Amino acid sequence: MLRILYFSQSSRDITDAQVRDILESSRRNNPSLGITGVLIHGGGMFMQVLEGPERSTLRQYVKILDDKRHGDCQIIHISPTQERIFQKFSMGVIQSDPFQFQHIAALREQRFESVQAKMFTDTMREFLAKLSAGPQHDAG
Ligand SMILES: Cc1cc2nc3c(=O)[nH]c(=O)nc-3n(C[C@H](O)[C@H](O)[C@H](O)COP(=O)(O)O)c2cc1C
Repeated sequence: MLRILYFSQSSRDITDAQVRDILESSRRNNPSLGITGVLIHGGGMFMQVLEGPERSTLRQYVKILDDKRHGDCQIIHISPTQERIFQKFSMGVIQSDPFQFQHIAALREQRFESVQAKMFTDTMREFLAKLSAGPQHDAG
């Protein structure tokens, strides 16, 4: 399995109804994809953890990247994992500015420079294309 943590800026005119729509989509789609996680929203930011099988988690992240309700996605952490942290949540939600949490600022400071983050994203797209072209099985 894979775990991804990213930050993004929510669109300036995002409404509560749009955030509810995101959660509805998540709860509708994530169970069959084997994805669990948490979405934190507040202070003009989103922070999300996605965890699940590599193929479906990367695919879902790339889909989320193109969503117009946010932008400037920055991956803070990505790693293979054996265990889920949010196993009980197809997508848990926390209404809060992510920076209210301890260590978030430090975590964010430790992320790669933006060029490297873009490289990282492009690499993910490449992985996805390769996974999509390969045999239909999930690692995890
Ligand atoms: C910050 C953010 C997080 C999202 N997280 C998820 C998610 O975990 N699962 C999901 O299916 N869609 C998520 N979405 C929505 C997707 O971008 C997309 O709109 C949705 O998957 C479309 O689903 P549908 O075709 O079933 O309507 C998220 C969108 C945003 C802006």
